[in-house]
Amino acid sequence: MRLLLIGYPLGHSMSPWIHQQFISQHQLNASYHLKEIKPDQFAQTIAALKQSGIDGFNVTIPYKEKIIDYLDDMDETAKRIGAVNTVVCKNGKWSGYNTDGAGYLASLKQHFPDALHSDTRILIIGAGGASRGIVFALLNEPFQSLTVTNRTEARAQTLVEQLESDRLITVQSITEAEHNLKKFDLIINTTSVGMDPQSDELPLDLAQLQPQAIVSDIVYKPLKTKFLTEAESIGGQIHYGHEMLINQAKLSFQLWTGKITDLTPILPEYTKKIKLK
Ligand code: ATR
Repeated sequence: MRLLLIGYPLGHSMSPWIHQQFISQHQLNASYHLKEIKPDQFAQTIAALKQSGIDGFNVTIPYKEKIIDYLDDMDETAKRIGAVNTVVCKNGKWSGYNTDGAGYLASLKQHFPDALHSDTRILIIGAGGASRGIVFALLNEPFQSLTVTNRTEARAQTLVEQLESDRLITVQSITEAEHNLKKFDLIINTTSVGMDPQSDELPLDLAQLQPQAIVSDIVYKPLKTKFLTEAESIGGQIHYGHEMLINQAKLSFQLWTGKITDLTPILPEYTKKIKLK
């Protein structure tokens, strides 16, 4: 079985190491390689891939939307999100999926199995691609309310309108959300704010945080962001960002192979590697 990751630039991606662990666990005869594609070579490289008899691939920045034009079909979640991170190639037919949001949710539930219930009031910070994946995944879960806040408020508004949900989903400005912070039980940063080299920045001021609230960050470089450090010092329960990636990979691998990977034996070394990144 031949698997790939396409994107540009790919740099020090962890995905080959992660998928090699999965391949070894299931003792499969398979490979997972990086394929960096320069933007001006995208169409011709994808055409060549179609001919190559590849079994599947992951898609990352900047091609998660661009790849859609080359697919034969897409599952409902990927369609609604408008972005694909996993392609399954079978009998020359390419099918698109998006495992980012489900990967995030799997990681959240592993650490906080009771985080989502009918009384949970969720605050999502950010309205970009990562936010879309997580918000669409959350729609299948119980919660009381979901609020989206974003530096550019209009973008949060557009995202909420696209959800076409009759549940309690609203938009607040960053200032409003900061002011109302006590009213949220689960706060998720989906922006890149706080990522190295801007690790001194916060996506939102946490002064009004309700102690006991769960504060979750998808940034994992550094692993313990300033956002998480501050949340913990106020009494918040913190959820790290790095396991979203390995759970997303697990779900992609399952789509390609049908195999369900046990992450438990892999996580200690994975976490060590993430910290060194
Ligand atoms: P991704 O796919 O990682 O979500 P994206 O689609 O570019 O990337 O979205 C980035 C998100 O981070 C957006 O919500 C963006 O806010 P804007 O819509 O206002 O641009 C947010 N973001 C990025 N840099 C930011 C910064 N310095 N301050 C506040 N928000 C920021």
